[in-house]
Amino acid sequence: MSQLPAAEAARRRTFAIISHPDAGKTTLTETLLLAGGAIRAAGQVRARGENRRTRSDWMKIERERGISVSASVMTFDHDGLMFNLLDTPGHEDFSEDTYRTLTAADAAVMVLDAAKGIEPQTLKLFEVCRLRDIPIVTFINKMDREAQDPLELLDEIASKLALDPAPLYWPAGSGGRFRGMLDLRTRRFLPFERSSADRDLSGHPSPVPVDDAAMEAYLDPQALEELKESAELVQGAAPPFEVQSFLEGHMTPVFFGSALRRFGVDQLLEGLGAYAPPPRAVAAVRSGEATQVAPGDPEVSGFVFKVQANMDPNHRDRIAFLRLCSGRFHRGMKLKVQNTGRQISVNAPIMFFASDRELAEEAFAGDVIGIPNHGVLRVGDSLSEGGTVRFAGLPNFAPDILQRVRVKDPLKAKHLRRALEGLAEEGVTQLFRPLIGSDFVVGAVGQLQFEVMADRLASEYQLDVIFEASPYAEARWISGQEADISAFTAAYRSAMADDIDARPVFLSKSGWETGYVAERYPSVSFARTRERG
Ligand code: G4P
Repeated sequence: MSQLPAAEAARRRTFAIISHPDAGKTTLTETLLLAGGAIRAAGQVRARGENRRTRSDWMKIERERGISVSASVMTFDHDGLMFNLLDTPGHEDFSEDTYRTLTAADAAVMVLDAAKGIEPQTLKLFEVCRLRDIPIVTFINKMDREAQDPLELLDEIASKLALDPAPLYWPAGSGGRFRGMLDLRTRRFLPFERSSADRDLSGHPSPVPVDDAAMEAYLDPQALEELKESAELVQGAAPPFEVQSFLEGHMTPVFFGSALRRFGVDQLLEGLGAYAPPPRAVAAVRSGEATQVAPGDPEVSGFVFKVQANMDPNHRDRIAFLRLCSGRFHRGMKLKVQNTGRQISVNAPIMFFASDRELAEEAFAGDVIGIPNHGVLRVGDSLSEGGTVRFAGLPNFAPDILQRVRVKDPLKAKHLRRALEGLAEEGVTQLFRPLIGSDFVVGAVGQLQFEVMADRLASEYQLDVIFEASPYAEARWISGQEADISAFTAAYRSAMADDIDARPVFLSKSGWETGYVAERYPSVSFARTRERG
């Protein structure tokens, strides 16, 4: 019976971690994988990362810049549940990529540095989660260092994010005086032992009922009194945790701990298992009609939220990451791409376990499988057995920076076109072909993406390119009646371009110009985003 898609989906927890750089996302990822039994020795994630980086040239930039450019997924089975942890890139230039990854997550863990609280990037990522109604679990990290007053941290969550914080634990001190935390639901104290630096074992002492005499081993009478008082205060002030309110995005359960010293992380994992939602029904369109696709529906369906090229430099392969939304997927089955009608046989689907990639024999809603392909699958594609389902809501964002790209060796111009198309298909950058002239215009949400792109064009395609300033400041997808589009295109031919899917785009020189033309052509709409698929 466990093979039933609904029952299998119900034991999936697919989530992402969001944080400002340095708050501890990488460390928490690693410790969660340890706590979940997915890896044995701390350091494995990084070691593996380094290993991969030395093998793959284009990752060089990741190492040089000390950032994580590529998002990946890691799966582990723990306590009867299947966790899929989606890794979101931390750098702000990759917000679009992050946004797409979050479309595949059912919940997010927001990591805060206890000394810093909500930082700019936390806020940005939080807004993305809110846009998609993703429930958020808060982990206040680095309690082993001097922290802000926990009540102030809760206040900050409430005022900056308009989210009700509901602490499930309450810390006793911080930094050198951090002694542990009180489980507010069970009234048991979890002692923190600084010397237990070994994250492989959750080597902290066992919990003690807060009113037990054994407490004196961990807190002196005054500190114990303070802990009880502040816990009472916060419980009086903060509303109690309500799962429904959390699922609706109004409330966040708050956990405290130290990712580095594996304290509070097992509790976080337990909390995710207990409260984070399993996959839910997803809005879609089937043969023109709005519908909902439920995880237990028999037809296998899903959408591609990320495409990554050249993960293995010896093969020009692309891996499309498919988030499954329904059915029981099994290896070898045929799926159809909704917008092209193409059928693909999925013979070598990959699941990403922390220690290895494995062939996925079967998978269910909530799971992410990697499908190797040669450019057939694009970000935003919807796949299903019947090929009629289309999932909505994977937009292309109007890029913030538009640059011209030229190859140094003019004989390689054709080559450049293919390479640029390849990168645009991954959805990392956007490609516009102006109707007039032969240069390409590349759009990205941040400067760093151009550097990554130049690096990849050199290492993967042996192309030396130059990016130059373009006269354009904004790209807008235009739509409307055909006659209106034609009239507009005729009037602004020198500013018109096609995107990778041959959709018309107006390249404007300034925000002012965009406003001006939009006013002059009220029957044409100028969109900042375009849904793929
Ligand atoms: P990020 O992915 O969010 O950017 O953060 P990352 O995990 O890389 O952590 C940033 C720094 O914070 C690292 O120190 C890491 O060891 C430290 N850190 C993470 N969690 C905790 C914690 O719970 N307590 C303490 N005290 N430190 C923590 P680093 O010196 O920059 O790197 P490293 O030399 O330790 O690798």
